[in-house]
Amino acid sequence: MAKRKREHGGNIKAAAEEYDLIYDEIIDFSANINFLGPPSIVKEVIEDSITKIVDYPEPDAKSLAVKLAGHLGIEPDDLIIGNGAVEIIYLISKVINPRQALVLAPTFSEYEAAIESVGGEVELFQLARSNNFKLDINQLIAKLQNSDIDMLFLCNPNNPTGDLIKRNDLIKVLEVSKQEDIFVVVDEAFLDFLTNEADYTLISEAIERNNLLVLRSMTKFFAIPGLRIGYGITNRKLVTKLNESKDPWNVNLFAQRVGSRVLEEQDYIRKTKEAVKQEKDFLYKELKGLPNLKPYLPTANYILIDIVDTKYTSWKLHNQLAQEGILIRDCSTYHLLGADFIRVAVKNREDNLRLIEELKSILD
Ligand SMILES: Cc1ncc(COP(=O)(O)O)c(C=O)c1O
Repeated sequence: MAKRKREHGGNIKAAAEEYDLIYDEIIDFSANINFLGPPSIVKEVIEDSITKIVDYPEPDAKSLAVKLAGHLGIEPDDLIIGNGAVEIIYLISKVINPRQALVLAPTFSEYEAAIESVGGEVELFQLARSNNFKLDINQLIAKLQNSDIDMLFLCNPNNPTGDLIKRNDLIKVLEVSKQEDIFVVVDEAFLDFLTNEADYTLISEAIERNNLLVLRSMTKFFAIPGLRIGYGITNRKLVTKLNESKDPWNVNLFAQRVGSRVLEEQDYIRKTKEAVKQEKDFLYKELKGLPNLKPYLPTANYILIDIVDTKYTSWKLHNQLAQEGILIRDCSTYHLLGADFIRVAVKNREDNLRLIEELKSILD
C-alpha cells in the first residue's frame, strides 16, 4: 500500500514561512481547537510550576489520573494517561500488535501509521461518498464476521467527516468483535464538544469489556495542544500492561498540573459547549449559503466541505486563503477525498465572518 503523507492541521510556523505571514496574525481554521482558548487559570498554573521543574513529574501522572477518574465517575486504575491521545494510539498498537487491522477511510491518519509502525497490515473500510461518508453499520459487521481482522479503529465523531455513530450500533460492533476476537479502539477525541456526549460515549463499556479501549484528548477541548494530554479507558489488566509498556514520565510536569486544574473549570466547560454549538450552527448555515459549497452537517467543532462544484482544487483554495492569512485543512492527504474537500474548524464569530467574507470574494 502507498504510504500516506502524515499531514495535520495547525502547522502555523510552516505556513508563516511559506506565505510570508506574521505568525500571530494568522487565523488558523486548520486545527480543531477550542476557539475560547485555554482557561485563564492555565497561565498561573504554569508560572507556579516553574520552580518544580527540578523534580521529576509524577510517574504515570497518578494525581491527574485521580482527578480525571473523579471527573468521569470511574476509578484511577481504569485509565492510562498519554502525551496526547496520539501516544495512546501508538501504545495500544504496540501492545495489541495486530496482524490485520481495519481502519475507516477517510479518517484520522495516525491509526494507520501506528499499525504500520508495529508491522501490522492495514485494511481500509471505505465509506461511501454517495452516502455522505456515513458508516453503514451492517456492512461493517459483515466485514468483521469470519475475517482475519484482529483490531479495529473507529473515530466517534469521525474526523474529518463529523459522522457520529450511535451507541447501540457501537454495542453491536463490540458484540461481534468479542465473538471474532477483535480488539476495538473508539477514539472519542472530539466527543466532549457535544452537549449530549453521555448518549454516545463507551467509557462504561470500556471498563467492563476486555476488547475495548476508549480514547480521549484534553488538548482540543481545553485548547492546550502544545502541552499534550490524552487518555485511554480500558480494563484494569490492560491499563497495567499499557503503563508497563511506556516511559514512566511520559506526561510532563506542566501538562500534569494544568490537566488536574482545568477539570475544575465547570464554567469554562459549560461555556465551551454552548459557544461551539452556537458557532457551529452559524458557520454551517453561512457556508451553505455560499455558491457551490456543500458543507457536511457538523457534530463537533469542525466542518467538512465538498468543493467539487467550485473551480478550485482543495490545495488551490488552501493557497488562495493562506495568502490572505487564513489557514484551512486541505483534505487531499485523506484517503478517498482527492482534491474535492477542505475542512474548517469552528471559530469565534469574528473569525467565522472573516472566513465567509474571504470565501465569498474568492468564489464569486
Ligand atoms: C481524531 C483524533 N484523535 C486524536 C488526535 C490527537 O489528539 P492529541 O492532541 O491529544 O494527541 C487528533 C488530533 O488531531 C484527532 O483528530
